[in-house]
Amino acid sequence: MTEQDPGRKTRVAVLGATGYSGAELCVLLARHSRAETVSVFSSGNRDARPVPFARLHPLLGGAAGPDAEPFSNERLEASRPDVVFLATPNETSAEVAPKILASGAKVIDISGAFRLREPADYPKWYGFEHPAPALLSEAVYGLTEWRGEELRGARLVANPGCYATSVLLALKPVLGLLAPGEPVVCDSVSGVSGAGKKSDLAYSFSELDGNFKAYGVGVHRHEPEMRQDLGLSPEAPFVFVPHLLPTVRGILSTLHVAFARPQTPEALTAAFARAYLATPFVRVRPAGELPELRDVVGTPRAEIGFALLHGGRRAVIVSVIDNLLKGAASQAVQNMNRVFGHPETEGLS
Ligand SMILES: NC(=O)c1ccc[n+]([C@@H]2O[C@H](COP(=O)([O-])OP(=O)(O)OC[C@H]3O[C@@H](n4cnc5c(N)ncnc54)[C@H](OP(=O)(O)O)[C@@H]3O)[C@@H](O)[C@H]2O)c1
Repeated sequence: MTEQDPGRKTRVAVLGATGYSGAELCVLLARHSRAETVSVFSSGNRDARPVPFARLHPLLGGAAGPDAEPFSNERLEASRPDVVFLATPNETSAEVAPKILASGAKVIDISGAFRLREPADYPKWYGFEHPAPALLSEAVYGLTEWRGEELRGARLVANPGCYATSVLLALKPVLGLLAPGEPVVCDSVSGVSGAGKKSDLAYSFSELDGNFKAYGVGVHRHEPEMRQDLGLSPEAPFVFVPHLLPTVRGILSTLHVAFARPQTPEALTAAFARAYLATPFVRVRPAGELPELRDVVGTPRAEIGFALLHGGRRAVIVSVIDNLLKGAASQAVQNMNRVFGHPETEGLS
């Protein structure tokens, strides 16, 4: 079922509701007038005790919701969801999505399990053989502002990565203006919640506080999905450098680009306006005005600004998002709204 009768709410389940992105999803869905959260899940063994919804999501001020139960397919199916959000590790999403689809529910996956179209890329970038390679060509890469009718009624949506969202939203409007062969360099910095709630030494307070570092150069998993969505070959001169910023939330990407012909502020403004004039969650700043993290943290928006350099032959483009919202949960809800024909801003404004 895709178009629903207006009186019936979309029945929603969240796997990974005890994680950072899953928690954000639960908060957004609780405020969504056309969705009803019917079940939420943690990992854990089947006999672990359920966690009360109000304790899991104190931000909702005690609002009612289903307890988080240890995940099992039987429990999920018993709740009869129309759509299941997967806010789970990549391999978990890859394992559970085919069963959920077979039960008739749709899947919106926040992990990377269905973002790449080529099965052979999974061992290389994700370290596992994909258990459901046939689904990779069906999954819609849910960079919402750049997807049209293909989202409507889709069975399987692969929500883009957080870094990828910030870079692609900034780069796609000017892609046709770039000088062939000149490198595009993307320096992106992310708050630590981008790594989820895992407790590695690298994410401990003493390692992060007062520190700042680049990591994953040339091997970060978001690079192939960016190349794929931009239509760039693995050899194209595209450089992505992620950095870990000692703050909790937010991604700021600084893109360095060169144009085939000199650009004016008006021409670039028009290129961004063509892409985003009618979109509710991407705001483009006037030429020369660059957005900051605090402009978007806690919001479902992306903000983009640019400065022209060298007589208009080059530009620096800056893009900011909240990694847990536009980079994960709010974009997933935007995608659900598109899939089910709800207003795009429902639950998000
Ligand atoms: N963090 C971000 O900014 C961000 C942005 C975009 C996409 N993502 C992607 O979204 C997914 C979730 O990320 P996150 O940062 O929210 O992770 P997280 O905070 O580490 O939470 C992971 C969630 O998955 C559950 N889980 C783990 N193993 C499971 C299993 N085998 N079966 C069922 N549930 C299981 C965990 O349950 P327990 O609480 O019981 O451990 C927890 O609820 C990841 O794939 C990540 O790459 C994250």
